[in-house]
Parts: sequence; C-alpha cells; structure tokens
Amino acid sequence: MKITMIGTGYVGLVSGACFADVGNTVLCLDVDSRKIDMLNAGEIPIHEPGLDTLVARNAAAGRLLFTTDYNRAVAHADIIFLAVGTPPDEDGSADLRHILAAARSIGERMEKQLVVVDKSTVPVGTADSVRDTIAAELKKRGKNVPFAVVSNPEFLKEGAAIEDFMRPDRIVVGSDDAHATKMMRQLYAPFGRNHEKLIEMDVRSAELTKYAANAMLATRISFMNELANLAEVLGADIESVRMGIGSDPRIGPHFLYAGMGYGGSCFPKDVKALLKTSRDHKQSLKLLEAIENVNEAQKNILFGKISRHFGGDAALRGKTVALWGLSFKPNTDDMREAPSLVLISQLLAAGCKVRAYDPVASNEARRQLIGSLGEEAFARDVTLCDSAWDAVEDADALALVTEWKEFRSPDFERLAGALRGRAIFDGRNLYDPALVMEAGLTYHGIGRPGHNRE
Ligand code: UDX
Repeated sequence: MKITMIGTGYVGLVSGACFADVGNTVLCLDVDSRKIDMLNAGEIPIHEPGLDTLVARNAAAGRLLFTTDYNRAVAHADIIFLAVGTPPDEDGSADLRHILAAARSIGERMEKQLVVVDKSTVPVGTADSVRDTIAAELKKRGKNVPFAVVSNPEFLKEGAAIEDFMRPDRIVVGSDDAHATKMMRQLYAPFGRNHEKLIEMDVRSAELTKYAANAMLATRISFMNELANLAEVLGADIESVRMGIGSDPRIGPHFLYAGMGYGGSCFPKDVKALLKTSRDHKQSLKLLEAIENVNEAQKNILFGKISRHFGGDAALRGKTVALWGLSFKPNTDDMREAPSLVLISQLLAAGCKVRAYDPVASNEARRQLIGSLGEEAFARDVTLCDSAWDAVEDADALALVTEWKEFRSPDFERLAGALRGRAIFDGRNLYDPALVMEAGLTYHGIGRPGHNRE
C-alpha cells in the first residue's frame, strides 16, 4: 500500500519504518526541514534501539522516503497517518494545532479517495474535528472526494517501540466506515499473522481506549508508590508485596514497580488531558486526580531521603551527589518529565553539586538543564560525566535514578571506597540491600525500611 506518515517524531518514524519493512511504500512528511535533511542523510533524530538499521534498510530499498512537500505527500497516499505532536496546553488539554493544520493541508490538496488515520494521542472527539476540517477545505475547493477518518492509537513503549509495533498485543481500530476498516485490516494483516490482534470499535471508543490504557498503568504505579511509602513506615518491603500480589493473574506482575514516579512523554500528559476532558464535560475523575498528585509527590521522594540522611537541607550545602541515569527510563534519551530533573533542581536549591552520568541522555539533559537553570548555574553546579565511575569520584552519595542495565551490578566495595558519605539512594529498588550493606554502605530504597540505617 502507499502510505503517508505526517510527523517524523517518535511515533511517526517508528510506525513509518515498520510499515515499510513489511513491503509498503511509506512517504514520511515533516514540516521541519532540518529533520527531513537529517533523515535523508541517514541520520536518526532520536535514540531508539534498532531504529537506525530499520530506517537504513528500508530507505535503501526505496520503500521509506522523506519529504517536506505536502503536494507530494497527499498525492502519494491511499492512507495518511497523522502522527504529529499534541503537547499539553497550559490548562493540560492537548494542543490540536498541529493535527488540525495537517488536516487542512490534506483537505487543500486531496484529489482521490483517502483514509485519514489519527495515530497521535488526541482527546475524544478529535476525529470529528479532523473530518470537519478536511470537509470544510474540500467544500472551499468545490470538490466532493470521499474520505474517512479513523482512530488507531499507538501503544509503543520507548526503548521497545519496534518490538511493540512488530508484535503488538492489540491493534485498536476505531472506524465508522466499512471501506476504511477493510483497508486497516489489510494494512495490519502482517502484524497479527498467528493471532487476531485487531480490535474494531467505534471512533470515540478507540480515542478513549488510549487514555484509559495509560491512565490504568499510571494508576498501578501511583498505587504501588503510595503503598511503598506506607510499607516503609510499617516495616514491610514493597518488593515482597509486589511479588506477593503480582502472581495473582487478576493483578499480573507488570507495572507494579515502586520508584521515583512516572515520567516520559505520555503518562503525565495523557493523565492531565483526560482530567481536562472530564472537567470539560462536567465530570470529575477523583481517582485520576489523586493518581497525578501522588506522582508529583513521588518525584520528591529521593531528595527527602537524601536530606534526612545528611541531617536536613541545611546540612546538604556543599555536598556532592552522584546520579546514575537521567532519562525518564532506560533505553531512551528522552528527558521529558524525567524525575531526575526534579531531583537535580532540589539538590541544587539545597546547595549541592551534582555529578551525573547517563549512557545516552547527556546531550538531551544538558539542553534541558541549561534551559531550566541557565548556562551559569549549569556550568557551576552540574557536571555531566563520561562514565558511571567518573560520576562517583569525589561524591558524598549516589542516587540511582534510571535502571539502565549497566548499573545493575556495580562493585559495591569500590563504591564504598569512592563515596565519602557511604550511602546509596536507590530510586528504582535495583539493588539487593543486603549486598549493598555488606560492602559497608547505607542503603535507602523505596518502601524497604528494614534495610535503611537511618
Ligand atoms: C507509555 C506506555 O507504556 C505506552 O503503551 C504508550 O503508548 C506511551 O506511554 P513510555 O512512556 O515509553 O510508554 O514508558 P513506560 O515504559 O510505559 O514507562 C512510563 C513511566 O512509568 C516511566 O517513568 C517508568 O519508569 C515508570 N514506571 C513504569 C514505574 O515507575 N513503575 C513501573 O512499574 C512501570
């Protein structure tokens, strides 16, 4: 099939490359000519395992093309995907400017029957707005070209996006048009060969499904974080509790990890947008409000522990804290809503210096931190290091912030020698407290009180 993908961000690029890999011809459009130049030169603007080879292979085969030219993009396609950003507005609602601009650009040019697919995460009712926008443009031109707007939300995890696309656990297609549904079935046939993965529903249900999935996952995380804080006070270990409940198939083992709060480009934004939608419709989602509040509080958790360990904020002045990991989760350089940013700003406000190491997110982190702190404070107080061991050099304590594989099994004896304050703050419960303490270090995890020597 001939597909046009509008938007070469994370979702657009991964989806476009995966569709090309099964034999479709995919033309990716972006209004940012720098991005298109990079892609045409074989460079990938984001870090996602396997994406560079996938893009290179399909570009070389002539199945994956890049352009800034809307005329070419609209003329190319039988199916056009909208995969543009929907950043949160100040009030938390999703900003639909890019989506509706893309819809206008399609309506201004389309000459033949088209299926337009919303891949971006958009509030319920957006497909209707996209349809109305395209119809209005067609009317202006005096054209009567049939088209349908379909909702097909993505469920890609950063760091595992290609695997998630190629072997999905479900493909949600919201469509009120039989021809469009048939096209979507055909398009997705290669991704569910052995089991039926495609779930058909009406457009609005598909739009809501995406928010419901992310809100449910955010719920599990906030629930476990809140319980972890209680476990700590009660003298219980949240890791044992997690295993104890996760083995119940009705609960399941995934997404029950207490930590520093969820971050990233999806959960925080989607929870906010769903809350806004509910307010707009005079409904209140009390549970979801609490989930968001718990998450905001959880981002402060490690700083609180560090401060208490050293005897209060005043005693932190002049201390150096090493951070292992900066990205919001492993296998990505994405720093959006990363808990590390909250921790760093709190440490600096208390007069600490920070030495941080992340396997891939340093450049992104530098950009974000300079933006929030300013060049001068960044240069004075933050050192981005080339290795994990470089970061702990001359530090008083270590905060494990992102559970990258290379941090899993460090030499604790060596850490005990390197860290002046001999303390590890494990924001992801990555370490066995007994091993850490055997090496003569104090261990502070999340919801694991028996192991803390406070
Ligand atoms: C998420 C959804 O998983 C994906 O389906 C959707 O399409 C986009 O949003 P992503 O943001 O890439 O994907 O990350 P994910 O792996 O879901 O993690 C989100 C956040 O939750 C991270 O900050 C992670 O550290 C945190 N998390 C996850 C926990 O704190 N505990 C857990 O048990 C799981």
